[in-house]
Amino acid sequence: MKYLITGGAGFIGSHIVDCVLKNGDRVVVYDNFSTGKELFVAHNLSNKNFKLTEGDVLDTKKLTSAMKGADFVFHMAGHADVRGGFDDHSVDHIQNLEATQSVLEAMQKTGVTKIAFPSTSSVYGDATVHPTPEDYPFEPTSLYGATKAAAENYIRAYASYYDWQAYIFRFVSFVGERYTHGIIFDVLKKLKKNPKVLELLSDGTPKKSSVYVADGVEAIFKVIGSTRDRVNIFNIGHQDILTVDEIVDTILAAAGVEIRKKYLGGERGWKGDNSFVYLDGRKLKKLGWEQKYSFQEGIRKTVAYLKNNPDLLD
Ligand SMILES: NC(=O)c1ccc[n+]([C@@H]2O[C@H](COP(=O)([O-])OP(=O)(O)OC[C@H]3O[C@@H](n4cnc5c(N)ncnc54)[C@H](O)[C@@H]3O)[C@@H](O)[C@H]2O)c1
Repeated sequence: MKYLITGGAGFIGSHIVDCVLKNGDRVVVYDNFSTGKELFVAHNLSNKNFKLTEGDVLDTKKLTSAMKGADFVFHMAGHADVRGGFDDHSVDHIQNLEATQSVLEAMQKTGVTKIAFPSTSSVYGDATVHPTPEDYPFEPTSLYGATKAAAENYIRAYASYYDWQAYIFRFVSFVGERYTHGIIFDVLKKLKKNPKVLELLSDGTPKKSSVYVADGVEAIFKVIGSTRDRVNIFNIGHQDILTVDEIVDTILAAAGVEIRKKYLGGERGWKGDNSFVYLDGRKLKKLGWEQKYSFQEGIRKTVAYLKNNPDLLD
């Protein structure tokens, strides 16, 4: 099998790359390095099954050329910062929706018929059913969630036109090695800047779940290996739920830091944030997937990784 992985030099994409290569398959990583890092794929550069192409997903011509001969596309490139859309109303539209359509056009031109796509728990917004199942309606409260929901629908439409197979994964936050954005990253960065007081968004009460990246990638390949519908939609979440305050305490303990915490906000971290994220994982569990790492273990592993790679915080 030959895989084209957009965003393959990013946090989650680079773990997908490692998994594909471990299985003996071939990979073309297509990445513009806007947030991705060569460091995350450097260990694969000498592998004859690995090819790195620098390019923008929005450049459909270049992407089409890179995609030739691929059997499967992982479209992992995207604007992953949920907060960014409040100040910049175009970035999610361009990077999550237009970029996805560019990938779909390149697939149609090259005859690739399988795609996996990382959607998000944000498509459910402030869901009123917890745990939230896959058939809960789209109720996004951010442009990030809205454009991911729209991208899911574009994928479904192309899959219907051309009889493709699509795998759509709605993740909660992933943590682990090569993590470069999110609450753990923000807290460690703030500790570096001001070791006396830690200022935090929200009032500490929002409740979140998270999945350790190796567990999440295992879930993705479990689904791809077991399901054959035209469109396969799976939540990837964790049954462990922690408040933001508990998450921060776990980060501080793992970092070995004692500091005064100062919460600056209300019941959500920012406009568009969702104060309770808890996905129903029964569909995934039926395939035999179980997470190996608790939420807190995932946090500890991430802190250890960032402590060993302090340059990532700069
Ligand atoms: N990290 C999470 O917890 C999480 C949760 C839900 C969904 N997702 C989704 O998973 C995907 C990967 O997230 P991540 O955390 O690994 O983010 P990331 O920022 O580490 O990775 C994104 C990668 O895509 C590349 N990229 C971005 N725009 C590009 C473009 N126009 N052309 C080519 N390359 C481009 C970046 O350089 C980077 O390598 C994203 O689509 C994100 O929305 C992530």
